[in-house]
Amino acid sequence: MIILGIETSCDDTGVAILKIENWKLEILSNLVSSQIKIHKKYGGVFPTLAKREHKKNLPIVFKKALKESKIKENQIDLISITIGPGLEPCLWVGVNFAKNLAKKLDIPIVPVNHIEAHILVNFVSKNSKFQIPNSSIFPAVCLVVSGGHTQLILMEKIGKYQLIGETRDDAAGECLDKVARLLGLGYPGGPAIEKISKFQIPNSKLKVTLPRPMIKQKNYDFSFAGLKTAVLYDFLKRPEKVRKSKEYKILMAKEVQQAVIDVLISKTIKSAKEFGANLIILGGGVAANEELRKQIIENSKFQIPNSKILIPPKELCTDNGLMVAVTGYFRKETATKNFDKIVAEPNLKI
Ligand code: KG4
Ligand code: ZN
Repeated sequence: MIILGIETSCDDTGVAILKIENWKLEILSNLVSSQIKIHKKYGGVFPTLAKREHKKNLPIVFKKALKESKIKENQIDLISITIGPGLEPCLWVGVNFAKNLAKKLDIPIVPVNHIEAHILVNFVSKNSKFQIPNSSIFPAVCLVVSGGHTQLILMEKIGKYQLIGETRDDAAGECLDKVARLLGLGYPGGPAIEKISKFQIPNSKLKVTLPRPMIKQKNYDFSFAGLKTAVLYDFLKRPEKVRKSKEYKILMAKEVQQAVIDVLISKTIKSAKEFGANLIILGGGVAANEELRKQIIENSKFQIPNSKILIPPKELCTDNGLMVAVTGYFRKETATKNFDKIVAEPNLKI
């Protein structure tokens, strides 16, 4: 079976083509066209511009993917498309493209939830095989953390999820993007903050400390807007010379990154303990952060002995077509040719 996966929920145009036979997986193509250069000057994603770029890029990326896969479009058996959550104008570009192609080829479509796709991409291993955990290891606690989402999800099995906590305001990645913009570090902010945080400043006289919002509260919700405001207050009280110094930028980047990591890890491990989960699954752009990856592995090993943790390779943490194609395969029983029912759902819940 050949599956086409399409992702256009935010600012990445992702197209993947997979060949799957009896759970044997071959990634024929997985291409992402990023719009970073276009959104850089706004310090965030500008939806109408993103829609225009998806419209322009999607047919080109699709053609490239077919060429790379060495297949003709009439060999595709199934189309898997992200219908939400995400930016509505962007989602419609992918949905309409998928519907037109499916009608032309007379093949069904699987509508995919973007959050579930960030989770299920973990079941593709480095050697491009499926690695589906034994059912006895469930439930799992999944942390999906990106520019648009920060959610903790209890997963009973593939297809059965319960949202146990989410951000009440900004997503973690959004907070890092805004802080990076304030410090003049560029966009996207997460990788920029990670990069500058690697510098060491021994014996610095500057002290930068930020709160860990909601870390002590007995729930699994997050709040990162307050953290962003705390950064702004600290920034405004510093003399201009300090604000512009590399030393201040490094110390602030380290502290904001660590504040985000502390809250994410604390709530994830607490929820895993409460729900008896021995499996922790990460996904979303922020999961590409090396410190978060390292520290959550160390902490879970220490605090939940025998626990297992799944984190996608970095390039599969950020948005891509492969995660959508893989989810389409897992959920192929929901495939439909009733195309009128397939619509963009910007606020789709898991
Ligand atoms: O999953 P994603 O590509 O798109 C959304 O669904 O939002 O995530 C993008 C977000 C951005 O906020 C970006 O700054 C953040 O993920 N990000 C990172 C890293 N790479 C991307 N944050 C921290 N460290 C990184 N290495
Ligand atoms: Zn995403």
